[in-house]
Amino acid sequence: KTIDDLGDLRGKRVLVRADLNVPLDGTTITDDGRVQAAVPTLRRLVDAGAKVVVAAHLGRPKGAPEDKYSLRPVSTRLAELLGVPVTLAEDTVGDSARAVVASLADGEVALLENIRFDPRETSKDDAERASLAQDLAALADVYVSDGFGVVHRKQASVYDIAQVLPAAVGGLVLTEVEALRRATDDPERPYVVVLGGSKVSDKLGVIANLLTKADRLLIGGGMVFTFLAAQGHSVGKSLLEEDQIDTVKGYLAQAAENGVEIVLPTDIVVADAFAPDSPHDVVPADAIPDGRIGLDIGPASAELFASRITDARTVVWNGPMGVFEFEAFAAGTRAVAQALLDAGANGGFSIVGGGDSAAAVRRLGFDESGFGHISTGGGASLEFLEGKSLPGLAVLDA
Ligand code: 3PG
Repeated sequence: KTIDDLGDLRGKRVLVRADLNVPLDGTTITDDGRVQAAVPTLRRLVDAGAKVVVAAHLGRPKGAPEDKYSLRPVSTRLAELLGVPVTLAEDTVGDSARAVVASLADGEVALLENIRFDPRETSKDDAERASLAQDLAALADVYVSDGFGVVHRKQASVYDIAQVLPAAVGGLVLTEVEALRRATDDPERPYVVVLGGSKVSDKLGVIANLLTKADRLLIGGGMVFTFLAAQGHSVGKSLLEEDQIDTVKGYLAQAAENGVEIVLPTDIVVADAFAPDSPHDVVPADAIPDGRIGLDIGPASAELFASRITDARTVVWNGPMGVFEFEAFAAGTRAVAQALLDAGANGGFSIVGGGDSAAAVRRLGFDESGFGHISTGGGASLEFLEGKSLPGLAVLDA
């Protein structure tokens, strides 16, 4: 069911689950991509004259209110982008939420305070989650699931609520699912996947799955050092997950067996310390000096990666190649982003997935419209690519 199937929404209270989990520096939003992505569905509901009630989380509070996890900065930004006032309730489903929702006129918007301030939201106990779903349902007539970034969570405002209220899938979730299916359902080949980010252990499932699906797997970012270690190289002070070395050896063997090309960097930018102004050099990937820390793939690797990306018909990129937040270590990430644009210009379909790579694209000043799709999902897009059934989608048959 989509929003169209919900009928005339004028005067109806519509509860929308959005993913407004943005990175904050104090109370300043450092990347508002997820707020921007939430706007089209909310605007559509406002224009339809609905009374819009938004539920969202921020960070991982421990089931009780914490100032630093308040949605206040998000509420301000949402109001600016939507161009209509957004009233932030002081609680999730309590007196303030009820009063704010009761005072909504048609076409007005309320945002509930961080839904994870309520311990029932993330509870493993079905009955606890169901009781929060009942409280949420009392605030609305229908439910729209539009927080793609949380559809992999079996949580009250994502999963349980869809069994209580008449429910529909929002436009953002539809767009995301359609784009990601181009990579999972019979992708056009060559199908190339670029993985980065800090930890191999976050990506185990997806790597295992891609070894049966992708034609090429390019590895960069912090996780590459566990691959280099698995090949017998020393990695200095670079990030290393020793407990994953055997797993990675298994991946390398399986890739060879399946005919999947694994592309690893041939050179690395190493620094003295994890700092923006640390002295740095380029060294061969198999000769990282003791005491130095790898913070980016090197220039030869950037060229190699680009050459293995630009002919892709389908390319998925998840995770930065280096510490792109520091200009000295941003070149690898920049080169991969550019190669995705080039693949797109050559007629391929490119997907940027994961909060960090999406943020990198925006921060490094790339034109977002050149990419086939920039996902708002981090874990959700990885689990989707892994071929897992995601609770928030399964409950809606999406
Ligand atoms: C994300 O940031 O990937 C989503 O907002 C989900 O957040 P979570 O990993 O804390 O559930």
